[in-house]
Amino acid sequence: MSTRRGAAPESDTLDAPERMSVDQLRALQLERLQWSLRHAYDNVPFYRKSFDAAGVHPDDCTELGDLPKFPMTTKADLRDNYPFGLFAVPREKVARVHASSGTTGRPTVVGYTARDIDTWATCMARSIRAAGGRPGQLLHNAYGYGLFTGGLGAHYGAEKLGCTVVPVSGGMTPRQVQLIQDFRPEVIMLTPSYMLTIIDEFEKQGIDPRSTSLKVGIFGAEPWTEQMRSEIEERMNIHAVDIYGLSEVMGPGVSQECVETKDGLHIWEDHFLPEVVDTLDGTPLPDGEEGELLFTSLTKEALPIIRYRTRDLTLLLPGTARPAMRRMQKITGRSDDMIILRGVNVFPTQIEEIVLRTAGLSPHFQLVLSTQGRMDAMTVRVECRPDTPPERHAGAAAELVAAVKETVGVTVACEIVEPETLERSVGKLQRLKDQRRK
Ligand code: DLL
Repeated sequence: MSTRRGAAPESDTLDAPERMSVDQLRALQLERLQWSLRHAYDNVPFYRKSFDAAGVHPDDCTELGDLPKFPMTTKADLRDNYPFGLFAVPREKVARVHASSGTTGRPTVVGYTARDIDTWATCMARSIRAAGGRPGQLLHNAYGYGLFTGGLGAHYGAEKLGCTVVPVSGGMTPRQVQLIQDFRPEVIMLTPSYMLTIIDEFEKQGIDPRSTSLKVGIFGAEPWTEQMRSEIEERMNIHAVDIYGLSEVMGPGVSQECVETKDGLHIWEDHFLPEVVDTLDGTPLPDGEEGELLFTSLTKEALPIIRYRTRDLTLLLPGTARPAMRRMQKITGRSDDMIILRGVNVFPTQIEEIVLRTAGLSPHFQLVLSTQGRMDAMTVRVECRPDTPPERHAGAAAELVAAVKETVGVTVACEIVEPETLERSVGKLQRLKDQRRK
């Protein structure tokens, strides 16, 4: 099957930092890091207290390698300082706030000065260009608008690049199909799980999803696998590239996969300094080793963030399409998404890979945790594809169970359900259904 090719970006259209040498970038990072540590220390009581408690001062940072001397920041620190306690500028200088809902308790609130919003738009514009988007193109933005950073973050970046933005937001799926058909966008931005929902809607309406005007899809806000990339690229006839970000660090556009290489996400390192540390004890790990990703903001005014523990698991690799900017490997999962099933660590992405490899199974699945006797048990509840004959069900289920046992090392059950029976995502997908006795 052929897929559409987006032209590789000409280097003269890139922002100057995207063309820097590693040495130039490191010098810029050090200068900005010193500013950011100082800004946090001088203006946020929380940072002053935590640096003092750790016996470090912004003046102790004379090279980038000094950063690990500084304490890490966690989501709990943001919650404890709810709502505006970590802002480094007076509230009147904050042009916008966003918040992430979180599953329990208070939301995490983040803020931006007008300059922060401009920086964010610049990073997002770079991301869209790296994905193959070009000025003048029409961009269908189905990330949710509101407190979630996805919608407005993508919106400002697309405008900055010079695209025509269609701010659809998430939901009302039949209308998404209609607008794609009528407006003929070249670029679409949304979560990969919502893309699947829209692809199904195309098919339901009898329209071939491969026949649309779309050339590229920029997917993020949740983990997704290479198998999911192939599924979307083939069914939609587009390039599918990965975008990463988190509200605490900025929002979407912290890192971006380039369409010409599709080999992991280049971090916009002139604004965000990455580290990877051991998940358990926080020891810094060298590039190439997998652990928890940390970010330090280098230019943010309203909410400087120092060594923020993202909980996302990845590793750092050298730059390719943007040579000085290191890449992060596609996220395999969050440390808090990890299910420990009878002592074995299971990530939903591992199951996604297997589901999509198994003939007859669709990408729509849930992981249902239950209690059996005194043990936890997991059932992979998965829809078959519409054209799967019923006599294939038992075989597909058995193959899935065997593949999970072999690659993940744990026994699960598999329940095959009819197409269109599992709830569909319109934003971030929640795969896990925890029905364990508490
Ligand atoms: O999800 C920002 C975003 C919007 C990114 C749109 C990309 C596109 P939060 O709601 O704060 O922000 O959630 C951040 O989502 O720590 C990851 O666990 C996860 N995440 C985001 N992008 C990816 C990705 C937005 N490409 C949390 N792959 C992060 C895997 C992702 N996980």
